[in-house]
Amino acid sequence: MSDECHLCLLGLIVLSSLLTGTSGVDETHVFISSGEDVRLLCNNALHDCTSTVWIYNRFRDSAAVELIGLGKKKKTTERHERLSLGSDCSLNIKNISTEDYGSYTCQQWTDVKGEQQGPDARVYLHVLNVSSSSSSSSQTEISAGRSVTLFCQLYSYDGGSCDDWMRSERIELFWVNQAGVKLTRSDSRYQILSSSHHCIITLNTTLLNEDHNREWRCNVTQRDQVKNSVKYTVKSSEILIILKTAVFAAPTVTLLQIICARRAGRKDSQHPEEIALNTISK
Ligand SMILES: *[C@@H]1O[C@H](CO)[C@@H](O)[C@H](O)[C@H]1NC(C)=O
Ligand SMILES: *[C@@H]1O[C@H](CO)[C@@H](O)[C@H](O)[C@H]1NC(C)=O
Ligand SMILES: *[C@@H]1O[C@H](CO)[C@@H](O)[C@H](O)[C@H]1NC(C)=O
Ligand SMILES: *[C@@H]1O[C@H](CO)[C@@H](O)[C@H](O)[C@H]1NC(C)=O
Repeated sequence: MSDECHLCLLGLIVLSSLLTGTSGVDETHVFISSGEDVRLLCNNALHDCTSTVWIYNRFRDSAAVELIGLGKKKKTTERHERLSLGSDCSLNIKNISTEDYGSYTCQQWTDVKGEQQGPDARVYLHVLNVSSSSSSSSQTEISAGRSVTLFCQLYSYDGGSCDDWMRSERIELFWVNQAGVKLTRSDSRYQILSSSHHCIITLNTTLLNEDHNREWRCNVTQRDQVKNSVKYTVKSSEILIILKTAVFAAPTVTLLQIICARRAGRKDSQHPEEIALNTISK
């Protein structure tokens, strides 16, 4: 074997030990915004998926729910309609809701011997959700001079001790301005409150006329890398706030929710963002 091959082999060993960690369990973190679709990879799949089992736990001590049993979807779970098994044994979940956060474990069991093959492959799914004080199910009017509060929350496994979790995995949640720069408490225009126990970061500000077209984003980062981001756009004059999401985990752009919509006029449909208002693109 040449030196280069030895290097390759060493690289693979280092890589696989990084991936599997110390416990022998392959763990990954996926950050998704509510409303998006997600594909959770099964990193221990065998040649086909008839041995695949997907297990869900919302919390460390919660009862395990079998979502997929030996390649077949369990019809007993509430959300079975949003789930499907990919040809590579990945678990697809459509239209993510804040209830979907937690740990998803992929295992391989052989029917014949009734034994588990290989280690668990675990995905921690974190769900990012942004909401606004002025939102309602249908329409709310807000105008310049009114204060608006935007809440950005990360729903994670072990939500109870969110601050520990975020610290150990170096996960950060923060608001940024249009230029992508982090908003801080020192900016007098904004009141930023964070509640580490609930993984919520709140942005409170009074809307100004010049906020027309202004964007605020809530970013979630892990080890200083942006993992997901949800954007707010303020439409002034007849104020319109649009909530959109930038998708990192999947090659789709999904419109999440219209927080507050009041159409100023028929010209609206010429703005790309407002075209997006009427379209959920996949
Ligand atoms: C955020 O969560 C709330 C409460 O769970 C839900 O009503 C809302 O639709 C979610 N937002 C989005 C954009 O899905
Ligand atoms: C996604 O789920 C929400 C409720 O969480 C529902 O109101 C909405 O209609 C769903 N969207 C699609 C495209 O199924
Ligand atoms: C926040 O996310 C947006 C969208 O990916 C990015 O353009 C911006 O640079 C990010 N800002 C920070 C401080 O992470
Ligand atoms: C937001 O700021 C306004 C004006 O300073 C204040 O009246 C309101 O109570 C604040 N809301 C929250 C949730 O902090």
